Amino acid sequence: MWSGRFREPLDPLFESWQRSFPFDVRLLPQEVAASKAHARAIAAAGILTEDELLRMLDGLDRILPLSIGEAAKPGSMVTEEPLPAHFAGIVAMNPQAEDIHHFVELQLTKLIGDLALKLHTGRSRNEQIATDMRLFVRDAIDQTLEGLVAWRDALVEQARAVGEAVMPSYTHLQRAEPVLIAHWLLAYVSMLERDFSRLMDCRNRLNLCPLGSGAIAGATLALDRTIAAEALGFDGPTPNSMDATSDRDFALEFTQALSVLGLHISRFAEELTLHSTAEFGFLDLPERFSTGSSAMPQKKNPDLTELIRGKAGRLQGAAITLATIVKGLPLAYNKDLQEGQEPVFDATDTIHGILALLPEFTRTLRFRTDVMKAAAEKGYLNAMAAATYLTHKGVPFRKAHEKIGQAVRLGLETGRELNELTLDELRVFGEEFGPDFFEAVSLEATLDCHDVSGGTARLRVRDAVEGADRQIASDKASLASKKSAKLGLESLTVV
Ligand code: ARG
Repeated sequence: MWSGRFREPLDPLFESWQRSFPFDVRLLPQEVAASKAHARAIAAAGILTEDELLRMLDGLDRILPLSIGEAAKPGSMVTEEPLPAHFAGIVAMNPQAEDIHHFVELQLTKLIGDLALKLHTGRSRNEQIATDMRLFVRDAIDQTLEGLVAWRDALVEQARAVGEAVMPSYTHLQRAEPVLIAHWLLAYVSMLERDFSRLMDCRNRLNLCPLGSGAIAGATLALDRTIAAEALGFDGPTPNSMDATSDRDFALEFTQALSVLGLHISRFAEELTLHSTAEFGFLDLPERFSTGSSAMPQKKNPDLTELIRGKAGRLQGAAITLATIVKGLPLAYNKDLQEGQEPVFDATDTIHGILALLPEFTRTLRFRTDVMKAAAEKGYLNAMAAATYLTHKGVPFRKAHEKIGQAVRLGLETGRELNELTLDELRVFGEEFGPDFFEAVSLEATLDCHDVSGGTARLRVRDAVEGADRQIASDKASLASKKSAKLGLESLTVV
């Protein structure tokens, strides 16, 4: 690709060490699509005749099937889109390819001869890799958004199924107040709504086409850059060639959004791990998603949630690796950037693996609502509601807090809950206590006194379930419209 000015061959160890083909082979569908878009642009600039363009497009179309066919083991499945095994095979069979750009040129030459060598007119690998990565991340985002919506669907389905069942909520991991299980589930739905919008923001910002940026200063042909941008479903060309060929903030934003999403998922995983212990007893782990111990026959282990907790660490790692690679890089392209690909691939595989499992796992969860209710009814979780009762009788909250604190103390000393104290006993702490106190500290009243938007009052939660569904429907629609804007484009694959 570039040996003309060299008199010495590369050191063999260095030569194989600096190759990116073993991992950037994953960008084969993107590289083909971007090459087709570039072919159209240079044809419009007069570099290819109409016939040459058609032969080139046809050749590029045959690269995927050819490469998959060559790499597939005899008797193994030949698919339309490459599988990981195909990628491995392609790399093994093409030791001469330095990177994905080189490989596509070699394959194209096999198919259409010397005409293939015209494809590189007016372009540079620097803009190619920037384009391929944008296309890859865009697809990875779309697939993540789909997984997020599916998981939100499952969470909302559970929220509906548990109805008005209750559980204790916790601050400092100490029981706080009763809440609806649905309210707790919707807390995660809220986090995921933000994760969805973060990824969508990233998608909107990245959707510009670097092709035409050249190696650094812009193409040396008078290209109409809108041709390639449109062919690839981008909103337009990038505005600055130095920035477009060297910044990877779209990949950084993507991995950072995944790192936040990973943190949210890890909190869910941790809570379920905890709730499934004998100490909590809030749920039975689904056997389909648990494993046993080879040593202790009685065990059922929460491997799925534990692994998720662990994989959240990988997502953090990807974002940090990428940030560290880009930090301090002078403009414009530097080879360091090649190191930024693998963390993106790894984070993509990690999140897709997790989101493929979570919806079904969530659907199979069965809560022990009796145990959760019992836990919500013991330990003075209605103390706040009791203090609120007194404030409605005109007692300042600070004083009400003090009086209920004394009632709790009496309960602790005599082994009773607040509703088991007598009115006479309560009146020692304040004459404001009346017979309606007992109703005011019932489980239902304790829930319903949180009658604010975002609160756990039963009617509020019912509304919140509806609201979560509406948000899912609107997010699904915006995702569908983004995806349909890619339809009819140069064939692209999510891998
Ligand atoms: N494999 C390279 C990468 O991933 C492609 C760009 C190479 N550009 C160059 N000037 N050497 O970054």
